[in-house]
Amino acid sequence: MHLLSTLTFTLLPLLPLTHAIGSAIVQNNCTYPVYLWSVGGSIGPRQTIAPGSSYSETFHRDPSSGGIALKITKTPNGLFDGSPQTDYAYTLDTDTNKVFYDLSDVFGDPFSGSVLSVVPSDSGCGTICWPNGVSPGGSQVKNCQANSNEVLTLCARSC
Ligand SMILES: *[C@@H]1O[C@H](CO)[C@@H](O)[C@H](O)[C@H]1NC(C)=O
Repeated sequence: MHLLSTLTFTLLPLLPLTHAIGSAIVQNNCTYPVYLWSVGGSIGPRQTIAPGSSYSETFHRDPSSGGIALKITKTPNGLFDGSPQTDYAYTLDTDTNKVFYDLSDVFGDPFSGSVLSVVPSDSGCGTICWPNGVSPGGSQVKNCQANSNEVLTLCARSC
């Protein structure tokens, strides 16, 4: 009995995760800082992303909203003062083990004139790219398996 419990506790951390989950990553390649809030049923703390830095969170479901929106502005209080906002939204579907991702703007286009790209780590999944920082229109929603990473780059080099 003692040996069994020792073995159990020793081996538990080695059990493989049945489903590895990827991340939503926001890479700031602009020359200025940007501000991000992770919003589901409630609003997460403000994250400041310095030029050349990134923000990352593991895909997860919000208990009340399900989906999550990473809301990005160029001004420090942008979420609360009606500033132009880029929303990088995702929904993790645990039934199909897929993540759905989308890009949209509200209250204007904060990155107008710059390139915005969402590139999946699995090149077989859909890319979103706005060559002028403005939505080309139509549905932008793409999906990929949940263990992929999806990188939104602000001020990307090109589409
Ligand atoms: C973002 O900047 C880094 C560092 O200069 C560069 O390696 C990377 O290719 C850039 N990403 C995009 C999508 O332009």
